[in-house]
Amino acid sequence: MYVSQGFHGLSGQEVEAIASNAAKRNAKHNVTGMLAYNSQSFMQLLEGESEDVRSIMQIIEEDDRHCAITYIRQDKRESRECPDWSMRSLTTPMQGVGSAENFTDSLPSAMELDTKILFTSFASLLAAEAA
Ligand SMILES: Cc1cc2nc3c(=O)[nH]c(=O)nc-3n(C[C@H](O)[C@H](O)[C@H](O)COP(=O)(O)O)c2cc1C
Repeated sequence: MYVSQGFHGLSGQEVEAIASNAAKRNAKHNVTGMLAYNSQSFMQLLEGESEDVRSIMQIIEEDDRHCAITYIRQDKRESRECPDWSMRSLTTPMQGVGSAENFTDSLPSAMELDTKILFTSFASLLAAEAA
């Protein structure tokens, strides 16, 4: 899992295109995960065999649509947290009372609590910035 700074002016549509292309390559390498974007920053979870994740991360690190990649977590887990998502993008900022619960509810049921907290905190930051 990492956070990065998106290239200025990248639209939600462009990010969806990144994620749908990503999903194709990820599926070939049996990599799954989730990409959150708030019109400024990315938070991405990638999971799979470590060699597969590393080789995809090497490509991602060279992508000039983002910079300042900061790794949050690189660990081994028993099972996948997004087993059904080759790469799902969530680009809508959260807004309003109760939206944190709604956002958390939309995360995969297999996602562990610490990961849910990281993504929900990230999404909450967007709401604070947008407010
Ligand atoms: C924030 C971000 C996340 C990305 N995530 C993935 C990913 O999970 N898998 C992937 O193959 N490419 C991902 N990409 C795209 C790669 O960096 C790279 O541009 C792409 O794989 C090149 O594909 P192409 O050679 O088919 O155009 C991501 C790009 C960005 C900016």
